[in-house]
Amino acid sequence: MTIYSRIAGTGSCLPAQTLTNHDLAQRIETNDEWIVSRTGIRERRIAAETELTSDLAVKAVEAAIEAAGVSRDEIDLLILATTTPDQIFPSTACIVQQKLGAHGFPAFDVQAVCAGFIYGLTIADQFIRSGGAKCAVVVGAEVISHILDWTDRGTCILFGDGAGAVVLKASDEPGILATRVHADGRYKDILNVPGKVRNGAIDGSPWVYMDGSAVFKFAVRALADVAEETLNAAGMEKADLDWLVPHQANLRIIESTAKHLHLPMDKVIVTLDKHGNTSAASIPLALDEGVRSGRIQRGQSVMLEGIGGGFAWGGALLRY
Ligand code: UT7
Repeated sequence: MTIYSRIAGTGSCLPAQTLTNHDLAQRIETNDEWIVSRTGIRERRIAAETELTSDLAVKAVEAAIEAAGVSRDEIDLLILATTTPDQIFPSTACIVQQKLGAHGFPAFDVQAVCAGFIYGLTIADQFIRSGGAKCAVVVGAEVISHILDWTDRGTCILFGDGAGAVVLKASDEPGILATRVHADGRYKDILNVPGKVRNGAIDGSPWVYMDGSAVFKFAVRALADVAEETLNAAGMEKADLDWLVPHQANLRIIESTAKHLHLPMDKVIVTLDKHGNTSAASIPLALDEGVRSGRIQRGQSVMLEGIGGGFAWGGALLRY
């Protein structure tokens, strides 16, 4: 019998503090009109000084576990996608395991920046299909505000903090229909944080650097291609799609992907107006919002897709 993986529940967590475009305009040379028209972002959430990636992740995981109706003892795999781990090691996944009070099963981080959740979902799906896990948690969580240069208006206006999670269970029925992931390190210099910790100090810049227009051009093409490739892998057509849950980086990129998939914008879950770009957390956060708002229903087909530094990108097509 073929084993599939299926999303049993979703959850998310956003920090309490909201930072609006108007707040940003008080601090740097920018304005609400520019940010909304170029990106679609109106506000974002920012973690408290002491709030870490693992704190947001635990809350998202707890909500997903509750929605899935599983107990902590059933979890046998935890994959956490982040660009802003609590510390260099151990992995934030191990810290989340400890905070959850669940232990023994494999837990590790995935670093694929904004594509991290798609990478994590792909790996968890492979574990479940091969019989290596029955109840996996995949979480994307970030306190990206910690690595932003708040004087750089080209980047600091774009991002926000948050976490989203899913519980994936083994099932006789799909579930995840197809996943496709890619990377191309030739593009590593257009979006990165170049600094490293060496001999007790940070060597190089610890802030996000982005060549916005180069990223924009690459993202539009790569996301259109990977969406099509993922549909083909599942033997499905654009017309079979009910929902698009994209990485939330820029409304113009999202609109372009939707157009390519012949989907009207009311079939696209958009959260970036309220969350900004939360990197690895953005797709599971948007998925949770789509599910909890009652828009995404059981049995519907959903395309998830994301892209970020690396470059790394991917798509996942599922029957919710
Ligand atoms: O998650 C990973 C994926 N990330 C992305 O997909 C992000 C992709 N890139 C983008 O979303 C866009 O490139 C940005 C939103 C970052 C920038 O938009 P753009 O339309 O490419 O603007 P630009 O960088 O070409 O800048 C246009 C103008 C410049 O002024 P001049 O040279 O025309 O006089 C900038 O200096 O807008 C100026 N500008 C700003 N003005 C007000 C740049 N940032 C700001 C700002 N407020 N925050």
